[in-house]
Amino acid sequence: MKPIKAGLLGLGTVGAGTYHVLERNQEEIRRRAGRGIEVAMVSVRNLERARRIVGSDVEVVADPFAVVNNPDIDIVVELIGGYDLARELVLQAIANGKHVVTANKALLALHGNEIFEAAQAKGVMVAFEAAVAGGIPIIKALREGLSANRIESVAGIINGTTNFILSEMRDKGLDFGTVLKQAQELGYAEADPTFDIEGVDAAHKLTIMSAIAFGIPMQFGSAHIEGISQLQAVDLRYAEQLGYRIKLLGITRRTTVDGKDGIELRVHPTLVPGARLIANVEGAMNAVLVQADAVGATLYYGKGAGAEPTASAVIADLVDVTRLATADPYSRVPHLAFQPTELADVPI
Ligand code: NDP
Ligand code: HSE
Repeated sequence: MKPIKAGLLGLGTVGAGTYHVLERNQEEIRRRAGRGIEVAMVSVRNLERARRIVGSDVEVVADPFAVVNNPDIDIVVELIGGYDLARELVLQAIANGKHVVTANKALLALHGNEIFEAAQAKGVMVAFEAAVAGGIPIIKALREGLSANRIESVAGIINGTTNFILSEMRDKGLDFGTVLKQAQELGYAEADPTFDIEGVDAAHKLTIMSAIAFGIPMQFGSAHIEGISQLQAVDLRYAEQLGYRIKLLGITRRTTVDGKDGIELRVHPTLVPGARLIANVEGAMNAVLVQADAVGATLYYGKGAGAEPTASAVIADLVDVTRLATADPYSRVPHLAFQPTELADVPI
């Protein structure tokens, strides 16, 4: 079967990571998807910048609409970030009948309701695993793995940059600005790092998880948001002396106020007892704790930011979309897509 054709919008930290992991693991990915996934076209803002893909067959263009309007592209992968241009591009891709994969939590938290409605009307998929908690498959867990449950709460560390800053300030006594610069160099931070520091990025992610966990529309405007910019190294040290760690947590849960049921959405620095697992999540790692009625508590842990962890989630979506967009029903069941001879040569 011919490979499915993907067009990447953006070739920054996540775009380049996606391109390289797709290239490196192409055989495994082809088997899992049931057919190859080919990056046929890429858009970047600055065509002059040196790129490791130059010399390949991939067409690199400056106009992202050239990708979205290209009739040969089956899946548009939006990795530009931001609200307005990304919204226009994604809606145009949907209108053109293309499936969309995006890592853009800001876009979904603000415009997700409109985007999902448009996708449903057009019968195309919008997949967004990378938008929350980097490489952790938390969207799949909430939407599929826990689909038998009534979810009570979702809480955790969902911003790698701020967790990295808090860990480094506490352990190495480094100042806020120095550690933020490191987080930017490591590709963890948003283009506008105030989104990280002021809790906005965590609130975007929490909005998305809350919508999936509780079956409600995206309601970013209802979130209480407080970041870490007011914290100092001394606060972290005092917390430690009292047996606590300070973590920027995102929490969404069912509440009842004056007899009325509702959903709470909040992001703020929190004192967590030092013995708790979540207190010991360090660096750019993320952890999400889900409380649900049938299964009880489940905890999801992993790299929450960076090129390849995020690429892992983007490509998982590409595989899912490819499988679901392919007519052969067997390709929709992952384990049946594997070759039965796979283990034949492995000595036991
Ligand atoms: P980068 O800033 O590293 O990359 C952005 C890419 O988009 C670049 O290739 C840039 O072009 C291109 N671009 C930006 N603006 C425009 C524009 N106006 N027109 C055309 N192209 C444009 O961002 P990231 O890769 O870090 O993030 C991408 C998305 O992934 C964001 O939505 C982010 O929130 C999300 N994300 C990021 C994670 C991370 O760890 N970095 C983790 C999870 C999600 P050029 O290269 O020429 O500058
Ligand atoms: N800036 C984000 C973070 C990237 O630090 O968690 C991952 O979504």
